Amino acid sequence: MVQYRGANFADVEALHELLNGYAAAGLMLSRSRNSIYENLRDYIVAVDADKVVGVGALHMVWDKLAEVRSLAVVNEHKKQNIGREIVSRLETGGRQLGVETFFALTYQPGFFGKCGYRQVPNDSLPQKVWKECVYCPKYPYCDEAAMIKHV
Ligand SMILES: CC(C)(COP(=O)(O)OP(=O)(O)OC[C@H]1O[C@@H](n2cnc3c(N)ncnc32)[C@H](O)[C@@H]1OP(=O)(O)O)[C@@H](O)C(=O)NCCC(=O)NCCS
Repeated sequence: MVQYRGANFADVEALHELLNGYAAAGLMLSRSRNSIYENLRDYIVAVDADKVVGVGALHMVWDKLAEVRSLAVVNEHKKQNIGREIVSRLETGGRQLGVETFFALTYQPGFFGKCGYRQVPNDSLPQKVWKECVYCPKYPYCDEAAMIKHV
């Protein structure tokens, strides 16, 4: 049975492999070990029989504004509602801190649409959102969709 919990140090290698495997396929941005360690408290994992089968992170960006990022489910566990459950749990955690607006920059707008997000023009997001974009290999030619949800 799939269970959900906050990530810990023992998960870092599994997260690094999962996220960068999809990044290599061009589906998401890569994450260095350094970035995963520094933001470890952002991450929750879905675990099945002690194996990480899904991950997602919520990163605080600005006043009542947070980004859902690094969302990935292993191939064999896709389409089992794990991705949606991770997003829901990230949002619950964010709401407890007072987050009122969640957003994602993604190549999967259809999935986020199913989670209640709507697409907005990228330049409608606050400038602060783009702080880390300079580290992206695609910068300044972003081709991700901006998806937003107000709660
Ligand atoms: C995107 C991803 C996280 C979805 O996870 P998942 O666990 O398979 O999704 P769920 O089973 O929770 O799906 C929830 C709903 O979204 C739909 N959905 C899932 N992936 C979708 C996609 N890529 N496009 C459109 N709809 C999608 C499902 O069919 C389901 O719809 P339903 O309610 O009508 O049944 C997963 O496919 C993945 O890891 N992809 C590779 C990495 C990636 O692209 N990450 C996103 C980067 S931000």
